[in-house]
Amino acid sequence: MGVTKARIPKYNPPRKVDEGWLVREEQRVYQTRTDGTLVRKRKRFRLIDVFAGAGGMSLGFSEGFGHAFKTVWANDFDSSCVETYNANFGRHCIFGDIVGILNDPTTHIPEADVVIGGPPCQGFSLLNKKREGDPRKQLWRPYFDVVERSGAKIFVMENVPQLLGSFEHGEIMGMAEAMGFKVWGDVLCAADYGVAQTRRRAFIIGCKFFDPKFVFPPRKTHFDPSKGGAQLAETA
Ligand SMILES: C[S@@+](CC[C@H](N)C(=O)[O-])C[C@H]1O[C@@H](n2cnc3c(N)ncnc32)[C@H](O)[C@@H]1O
Repeated sequence: MGVTKARIPKYNPPRKVDEGWLVREEQRVYQTRTDGTLVRKRKRFRLIDVFAGAGGMSLGFSEGFGHAFKTVWANDFDSSCVETYNANFGRHCIFGDIVGILNDPTTHIPEADVVIGGPPCQGFSLLNKKREGDPRKQLWRPYFDVVERSGAKIFVMENVPQLLGSFEHGEIMGMAEAMGFKVWGDVLCAADYGVAQTRRRAFIIGCKFFDPKFVFPPRKTHFDPSKGGAQLAETA
């Protein structure tokens, strides 16, 4: 009688994370990486490395380390780094200051799935506590410009541990979330993943389609035998 039924909104119960599934999935990914099946797949994820240096991070994402990524663009303003990078990964590392490169109307940032990079960290370093207005602290901004222009749905940012909890960390989180990323960060110890040094580094991971806190940090692969299997990062 002229009365319309009120539309009852569909109830979406909060999605429970099945921890068993996450462990199995992580195990599966680890397996495919270590037994070489991942690199046998034809699909290659497109990768951009900002502030690439000589390509240390790109190397970690490469076939040599069991991953299915292909770098499509990189940059650095150190000519020796650019030469080394191009000799090892293909000639797509652009020489020059990132700000100038991004302001140049002829610059084309190719489409990518993932952007990685370690914006220069001197501004956060323990040895440089007084560098309040250090412009190098601001270089995460062009990093996100590249993320946006490439359309990447995942980013991995590496830096010194002091980044986490800093003012800039808050700004980075704000920027990433405003761009639609779910973000998570932690400090990892290289020795926990098989590197012969106890270097600790902060990693901030952003993903548009999955909350990275469920898969990051990855399970440790190596342990300190002198501590009866205790994990280094927890005892450092
Ligand atoms: C922490 S290192 C990166 C290391 C690299 N991710 C790796 O795994 O080997 C930072 C790099 O940023 C470069 N860099 C610093 N400021 C820059 C700028 N304004 N434009 C372009 N590159 C810059 C430096 O030359 C240096 O190689």
